Amino acid sequence: MTVPSVALRSGDSIPIVGSGTWDIGDETVRESVRVALDAGYTHIDTAEGYMNEGEIGEVLADHDRDRQELFLTSKVLPSNLAYDSVIESCDASLDRLGTDYLDLYLIHWPNPAISLRETLHAMERLHDRGKVRNVGVSNFSAFQLSCAHHVSDVPIAVNQIEFHPWFQRPKLVEYCRETGTAIEAAAPLARTEVLGDETVREVAEEYDKTPAQVVLRWAVEKDVVVLPKSTSGEHIRGNVALFDWELDSADRQRIDELDRDQPIYDTPARDWTGDVYGISQ
Ligand SMILES: NC(=O)c1ccc[n+]([C@@H]2O[C@H](COP(=O)([O-])OP(=O)(O)OC[C@H]3O[C@@H](n4cnc5c(N)ncnc54)[C@H](OP(=O)(O)O)[C@@H]3O)[C@@H](O)[C@H]2O)c1
Repeated sequence: MTVPSVALRSGDSIPIVGSGTWDIGDETVRESVRVALDAGYTHIDTAEGYMNEGEIGEVLADHDRDRQELFLTSKVLPSNLAYDSVIESCDASLDRLGTDYLDLYLIHWPNPAISLRETLHAMERLHDRGKVRNVGVSNFSAFQLSCAHHVSDVPIAVNQIEFHPWFQRPKLVEYCRETGTAIEAAAPLARTEVLGDETVREVAEEYDKTPAQVVLRWAVEKDVVVLPKSTSGEHIRGNVALFDWELDSADRQRIDELDRDQPIYDTPARDWTGDVYGISQ
């Protein structure tokens, strides 16, 4: 099975379904990535903050897929956005993943305490050295994304953001579209919250699909790249079985109408001392 792709500003293609790997480690992530590769996924989403790049690297080394067939994304933590730290973080991620280059390297979260221009200069350097094929951001608002586009010499290919039927972010999505920034849906299943939605369940029944398939199909029909995470072989296989059927426009519209502006993880409060941000003095 071939998963369709979305074109990035560089001309590269990103498979529209990727395997999410947040919050899984050890044998769980090994098994999840192995099953995903066997099921036809070629796109893996990880981050230095997920602490599982080493395990993913082991699976990739053992699997018979060629590196050129894969699309690997990693992310640099907001505490590591100073110039030298970005270079070091990337080198460490490459080492753990056992590869010479990343297809996509993202700023995991914006960090208002470190110059974005400095971070993007480091990204440009990684890009010029061939260590990073595409540069992007994650969890950036339209304002932060506009700043990134303004100061970056390498194209900002992607904004990876929380996106699902309960959190559709129309203004941010519109700004991404206007600037040719591909959208990746982090937590595309709202960490299962949206799977119990009555309308989603009704549509799933109508098409004889799972609620997860309906939610993922709805996103890919908008050219949004989805990154579902699962530890279940059945779910992993089901989450990529999206391309021999489609939603009709009335059902697509019913899901469009579910927006509640309700984030699961990208809530306004930030704790600058925590593991994710870690930028206090
Ligand atoms: N850039 C960022 O800051 C950021 C933030 C969040 C997420 N992400 C990326 O996006 C990925 C996905 O987000 P996420 O892991 O937070 O949440 P998610 O993919 O929205 O949801 C994961 C949950 O859904 C369940 N699930 C998966 N497929 C299912 C199915 N077919 N039916 C029923 N339940 C299903 C999983 O349980 P089972 O294991 O039982 O299937 C798991 O509990 C992450 O892993 C990460 O790669 C990035």
